Amino acid sequence: MELWCLVVTWFVLVWGIVEAQSPPNIVFFLADDLGWNDVSWHDAGVVTPNLQLLANEGVLLEQNYVQPLCTPTRSALLTGYYPYHLGRQGTVLGYTWPTGLTLNYTLLPENLASLGYDTHMIGK
Ligand SMILES: *[C@@H]1O[C@H](CO)[C@@H](O)[C@H](O)[C@H]1NC(C)=O
Repeated sequence: MELWCLVVTWFVLVWGIVEAQSPPNIVFFLADDLGWNDVSWHDAGVVTPNLQLLANEGVLLEQNYVQPLCTPTRSALLTGYYPYHLGRQGTVLGYTWPTGLTLNYTLLPENLASLGYDTHMIGK
């Protein structure tokens, strides 16, 4: 098991309404190894001004549960399926492993695109 990938995963979903007729903007952060008190809205001694601004203007979803590892968490997030339905419940995928999700799942960005959203992902 790779320590870097042991996760205390934190979800922050920020909704911002650009125009009254537009669907809300969605900014989704998935952070590995971020503890509950590692953000300023839970601990005033922590300085996270940009995240605090997003939190102030958005919606915080603070009672979410994730898998203890990144691969099962991402698999579930992207597909909406529990990891054991995807064969991704066991471990973290190595970056050189020639495997991943099977191609018959519609992923979250594809579902959002079908609703008219432009999507973009940054990160590993
Ligand atoms: C996708 O394909 C896999 C492998 O054939 C199968 O086990 C799974 O049920 C399929 N899932 C969907 C949503 O079609």
